[in-house]
Amino acid sequence: MSFCLFCLELCSSRLLRHCEMADFGLHTYQQEVVERALKGENIIIWLPTGGGKTRAAVYVAKKHLETTPNAKVMVLVNKVHLVDQHYNKEFEPYLGHTFIIKKVSGENKEKDFFGLVVQQSQVVICTAQILYNALINKEEARHVELSDITLLIIDECHHTQKEEVYNKVMRLYVEKKLKGEKPLPQILGLTASPGTGGAKTLDKAVEHVLEICANLDSAIVSAKEYASELKEVVPRPRKIFKIVKERIKDPFGDHLISMMNTIHSRMGLPPDFRLKECGTQEYEADVVNLEQRGVQEKNRPLAQCALHLRQYNDALLINDTLRMIDAYRSLEEYYSKKRTNPIDETDTFLLELFEENQVELRNLAMDSRFENPKMDELQSTLLEQFRSGVPSRAIIFSKTRKSIHCLKDWVLTNRALQEAGIKADILTGAGNGITYMTQNEQAEIIKNFRMGSLNLLISTSVAEEGLDIPECNLVVRYGLLTNEIAQQQASGRARARNAQYAFVAQAGGREDRRERINEYLEELTGQAIGRVQTMTPQEFCSKITQLQEMAVTCTKIELKRQAEKRSRNTASSFQLSCRGCFTPVASGSDIKLVENMYINVNPAFKSFKDWEPGCKISCKKCNKKWGNEIKYMKCAIMPNLAIKNFALGSPGQEWPPVKKWKDVPFTVEDFNFKEYYIIKRALCGFSYSRISVHRFAPQMLSLCSASPACQNL
Ligand SMILES: *[C@@H]1O[C@H](CO)[C@@H](O)[C@H](O)[C@H]1NC(C)=O
Ligand SMILES: [Zn+2]
Repeated sequence: MSFCLFCLELCSSRLLRHCEMADFGLHTYQQEVVERALKGENIIIWLPTGGGKTRAAVYVAKKHLETTPNAKVMVLVNKVHLVDQHYNKEFEPYLGHTFIIKKVSGENKEKDFFGLVVQQSQVVICTAQILYNALINKEEARHVELSDITLLIIDECHHTQKEEVYNKVMRLYVEKKLKGEKPLPQILGLTASPGTGGAKTLDKAVEHVLEICANLDSAIVSAKEYASELKEVVPRPRKIFKIVKERIKDPFGDHLISMMNTIHSRMGLPPDFRLKECGTQEYEADVVNLEQRGVQEKNRPLAQCALHLRQYNDALLINDTLRMIDAYRSLEEYYSKKRTNPIDETDTFLLELFEENQVELRNLAMDSRFENPKMDELQSTLLEQFRSGVPSRAIIFSKTRKSIHCLKDWVLTNRALQEAGIKADILTGAGNGITYMTQNEQAEIIKNFRMGSLNLLISTSVAEEGLDIPECNLVVRYGLLTNEIAQQQASGRARARNAQYAFVAQAGGREDRRERINEYLEELTGQAIGRVQTMTPQEFCSKITQLQEMAVTCTKIELKRQAEKRSRNTASSFQLSCRGCFTPVASGSDIKLVENMYINVNPAFKSFKDWEPGCKISCKKCNKKWGNEIKYMKCAIMPNLAIKNFALGSPGQEWPPVKKWKDVPFTVEDFNFKEYYIIKRALCGFSYSRISVHRFAPQMLSLCSASPACQNL
């Protein structure tokens, strides 16, 4: 015992500033993990979900702002909703009265003046993409230098790897560091688990942890001395395995497989191709491959049969976790959309096959004798909790948006669950498009869950990462195959006293195996971190420097390789055709890049469809969706196409289709507005040629809304 230098009271802690930190509301284990950050070192804080990482980071930011001249703190998050959440719940309440704090997300205007926003504030919370854009943008109002930032906080920092945007930001840092350029910001990473990156052995897991450390140029810190306090504050939920036996008879599944076999024999499989077992992820990978092959070879029967087989396989995957009727309905829905316009005999064959079997399939799906036993187990798990007499809140995590909708339907139509007072709704990720929720809808659902008018949330596991959801008594992972990181994050939701974390799976089935592997990987992650932490500072430092040098070199080589590949092919020699029917659609040179979107700027493209702003654009012949119309600068309406919906060809060569525009084998040029509007002028009747390109935006807006002709563009 000695006198604390701060409060001058008798104090047992060896931690400097102990009392001040306690006053701030930090537990001792949080004080322990921030110690090195307070000394200015780069660290990653590793604390479990619910351990208060963000609060610890707020304290580091506070001390940093108080002690560093011209301090500038940047907080990076990987999801838009976290910008608001961190601002409202953490940074603004604790620092807002003393410091200037701004939040910027893709949704507000500030992103267009991001450079200025950063200049004028002391703390900025934003998504990583916004900072990255600013770092590489040369325009003054938008530009930010890494050296302008003095403390860079990276939330969920295990995403700092590969080509993820966190890593792109950090690579700029690492390049500067290796060149000896200064100043550079201090780094503070936060994570509940760095994972093992797919490694199954300790040595490989250690390598992965070191790689994350190298990418963040940081040591990894966890609660040691005060680990027992952490355990008390963040208790681990009790885990229960609910293992069910296989169905003895499965006539519905058998019938689906027999239909798939009919398709197999019709499609003319390449002789070198042996498909994996139906109803597995591996089979899915196979048919995805076959479809690509069909597109590349312009072999429509192969491509279309493969597409349909994927739907059947989806139905089998649904049969495996949900009700048979859910599996049936997913096929029925698919075919009801296909019914309108078969364009050749392949379409007719596939359509007829389904229609001939439809009645029988539905009858089999309704035969309750063969219903999925996992649903029974899920039901009894929920009933145990909700009939226990304890006021309860529960979450079910499941894989896809489709499956959570099916589960909701099941809960709402299940008498026993309704009688137990279960009030359920779904929670999905926020985003654009009809299948997502808006942030407001999300907030409303979470509010109802907090108030008690809802007591069961059914959610996709990725959707809820980082959402501020009240403590639950029961968390069920259902029909999920995820990695160890998602598993830990989900179980972290079961935080109420005596909470349970349940897991429903078929004995020896794939989810069962994955769950056990994940448990092992979680263990392995801990061991790997332990190893890294016991390295001597010299050893650690030389290891991560070596990894950093390697990463920088690899990036350079890769960029060069890509540039070479692209320069060999000119955009104009490429032809994009519809992936569904191979109708030629555009030339590669019609596509231009505008703010991360790929636009077809050829005015003639218009004739493909009668457009309405905001709608989807699809093929007139086969109905394949091509992309969306977007409004740019509130004026121009432009076709934003997704390359995954097109086949690629150039004279004398067929190319494999690609998923993302960045993978096309030619260079897509930046959009040149002036050129575009010179082309458009004839249609619009308004002269834009006098407007300089740089001052284009604001003027464009007013001019265009003044011109009725332009609205028809
Ligand atoms: C359908 O689901 C059940 C229950 O999960 C499973 O036992 C069966 O193997 C599945 N059928 C097929 C063909 O995959
Ligand atoms: Zn088409």
